[in-house]
Amino acid sequence: MPLKVGKGAMAPPFMVMDVIAAANARQASLPPSAPHVIRMEVGQPGTGAPAGALEAAQSALRSGHPLGYTEAFGLRPLRERISTHISEWYGLPIAIDRIAVTVGASGGFILAFLAAFDPGDRIAMAAPFYPPYVNILTALGMKPVVLPTGPETRFQPTVAMLESLDARPDGLIVASPSNPAGTMLHRDELRDITTWCEAHGVRLISDEIYHGLNYEHAPASAAEFSSHAMVVNSFSKYFSMTGWRVGWMVLPPELVRPVECLAQNMFISAPYISQIAAQAAMDCHDELRANVARYRRSRDHLLAALPGAGFAKLSPAEGAFYLFADISDRSNDSVRFCARMLAETGVAATSGLDFDRDRGQRFVRFSYCGPEADMRDAAVRLAAWR
Ligand SMILES: Cc1ncc(COP(=O)(O)O)c(C=O)c1O
Repeated sequence: MPLKVGKGAMAPPFMVMDVIAAANARQASLPPSAPHVIRMEVGQPGTGAPAGALEAAQSALRSGHPLGYTEAFGLRPLRERISTHISEWYGLPIAIDRIAVTVGASGGFILAFLAAFDPGDRIAMAAPFYPPYVNILTALGMKPVVLPTGPETRFQPTVAMLESLDARPDGLIVASPSNPAGTMLHRDELRDITTWCEAHGVRLISDEIYHGLNYEHAPASAAEFSSHAMVVNSFSKYFSMTGWRVGWMVLPPELVRPVECLAQNMFISAPYISQIAAQAAMDCHDELRANVARYRRSRDHLLAALPGAGFAKLSPAEGAFYLFADISDRSNDSVRFCARMLAETGVAATSGLDFDRDRGQRFVRFSYCGPEADMRDAAVRLAAWR
């Protein structure tokens, strides 16, 4: 008798993982003297957690503390520190009962979607998008509504796009700076979208995970414009702590208790040790700003060098550590293009298909968070490959 398999089991893969596997395989096949594979496919900082975070974690381990569960919303001192961080970065007072520590931004999405939406609800987002938005929503029986965007709006959604939908969506996800385009919603644009959502009963989820990695404009938080927006953030990117699996949310007052109940049932808590390290990381800005300065140098170099290497149509790269390149003058099959690029130059990058299923074959995402020397070498190899 065949056993039932749920719709959630049909979530598609995150294709970048296949590129990572191909890059690993190529590296393993190379003789030690050959130039190494340059990793521009991964979206995680090569640096680990800042020194102060490691020290705090080591001293917690040595202390003999049992490091058990915490309250579902996290350790109070960490929540207090996050509240101070929000006031330092955005000048915004947020009561700590609205702050939830989560298992990364990824844990935050599941809590946000379950608390705010029902199966069948329609949730809008710009394409290109971070693939798990669509994959998690679909696994939960919710319906992604994709707004195709391009360079005219810096790959970001607008109020006009929302107005032009046949039916009002139940929710909207925005990400600024975004993955894969590395572009931002500027303060006035985020304000207009947030106030439009509030006026039209559309629940806004603002993914602010790349805040701190911005090169042109200071980012605004959706929480500045509406207390009904759900903000998702993380220690994975600016704080360089991907594997510690810790993030946070700023919750609308009406969703505090529902999210707390969901979090208790689904995760119990984020890892204790990670919360200790995360709190210390919030005082490591010198080290973290040095990482940002390195990203900025790599970005500036690539923006100057890649056009001469045949990648002339690049996203403005206002934040995060991504360049989204329109390669339509070279290929209409970016999966094959990336495979060939890896085989012939040793530079690994991701096909845009992961981020936009309709138009992604025309795009490649380069991540520039790797070592600075590698980013320079990549530009040289790609120019020679042209
Ligand atoms: C836009 C965006 N949101 C969320 C995440 C997931 O973050 P976390 O490691 O905090 O789960 C990523 C990871 O790359 C991302 O790019």
